[in-house]
Amino acid sequence: MEPFGAEQGIYKDVDVLDPEPDTYKPTELPEREDELSRIHSALRPITLGGSPRNILVYGPTGQGKTVGVDLKTEQLQQWADSESDVSLTVLRVSCKGAGKSWNVLAALVKQAREARYGKTVEKPRGPTKVELFEMLSDDLQAIGGMIIIVLDEIDGIQEDDYVLYELPRASIDSVSIGVIGITNDYQFHENLDADIRSSLGSREVVFSPYDADQLRDILARRAARALRDTYFEDEIKDSEHLQSDVLSGDVIPLCAALAGQDTGDARQAIHLLSTACDLALDDGSDIVTESHVRKAREEIQEETIGKGIRGETIQRKIALLTALESELSGDAPEGTTQLYRRYKRFTKQIGADTYQQGTFREKLNDLAHGNILEGDRRGRGRGRGMTNMYSLSVDPDLVIDKVGDDNRLSQITERFE
Ligand SMILES: Nc1ncnc2c1ncn2[C@@H]1O[C@H](COP(=O)(O)OP(=O)(O)OP(=O)(O)O)[C@@H](O)[C@H]1O
Ligand SMILES: [Mg+2]
Repeated sequence: MEPFGAEQGIYKDVDVLDPEPDTYKPTELPEREDELSRIHSALRPITLGGSPRNILVYGPTGQGKTVGVDLKTEQLQQWADSESDVSLTVLRVSCKGAGKSWNVLAALVKQAREARYGKTVEKPRGPTKVELFEMLSDDLQAIGGMIIIVLDEIDGIQEDDYVLYELPRASIDSVSIGVIGITNDYQFHENLDADIRSSLGSREVVFSPYDADQLRDILARRAARALRDTYFEDEIKDSEHLQSDVLSGDVIPLCAALAGQDTGDARQAIHLLSTACDLALDDGSDIVTESHVRKAREEIQEETIGKGIRGETIQRKIALLTALESELSGDAPEGTTQLYRRYKRFTKQIGADTYQQGTFREKLNDLAHGNILEGDRRGRGRGRGMTNMYSLSVDPDLVIDKVGDDNRLSQITERFE
């Protein structure tokens, strides 16, 4: 067994390559200057003695929404702290997995009370959501001044949007409240109630996906902090000026290109780079090469698919096989209707239940959510609405391999081998 601590190491600060914002948070986001300046202008009234505007931030996963809103509200907090006559409180709640408005309100009451009393308090239990809202109003009034409430991942609230409806309209004596809602869920964003949209989204800021060039710069800045003997020439912080004894020249461009061609997700790009560095370390190599990146990508894909289908119902696996077949026959991307035809054939072949098309579509969307499929919304032609086109976003061989482990499905996957 190898001893800990013996590694020479390519890292200077390993935490910087952890994409979780709790571990490392960048201090600047030059790629998001425009988006941040729109948030800035929506918050600016506070500095002029007015009320902040509500903001809805929307964009796919890993685009710097959470970290961007964090940086901007921290900057505002610093300004407020330096002004003797301004009182500003920022409350941040993640609605991920909340399911209901009740959970979000309970978390907000807890945070508001902590800000009010300056000590840790328990989450309230028992009150109804209307009572919770009254408690919250009472606490916010006691805190007073300007209050910014950041509701991250608001799609986690699902159908019960009471809090999204009430909060942006709350009018409480002697307090001005600004709500910043963040979501990466296109469907949720589109389906938002018109009233919520108009009150919460009075300013809408869209974070569109990074391209490979932007991802390169993002990775270069992370690498310069995380890895030893890696630095910027002439203090110019872009990928062209990165010098490194640890990374071979094609590593960052390759990580950026792979993540860029997927979804332009910075979290994914950083995860790929850090996995490649870990693999180099495992090899005892003091240089990270292109082959480490390729191996890292395979490992990550395997993990993603494994996670996506391990312990999953047979229905989800069959849905995945429809996309596989479509891919291998050169027909991808395909819409739900075409894939559903494949689905009916498969379920008949193995004697599984055949669900309605709507339920089948949900399975496809689940897979797209897990980045196993790519769902691309397209117009069906004038006045005929939008449809989702699906294609496989992982290696077909991996799908054959993993789904084929299920005895019930191996008779289908065998045909593809
Ligand atoms: N412009 C950037 N520069 C440096 N790092 C970035 C940039 N954009 C994103 N990141 C990093 O990428 C990761 C994901 O960012 P973030 O958590 O803000 O994404 P998000 O848009 O909120 O995604 P989600 O919708 O999944 O919550 C974080 O580690 C963040 O530090
Ligand atoms: Mg986020």
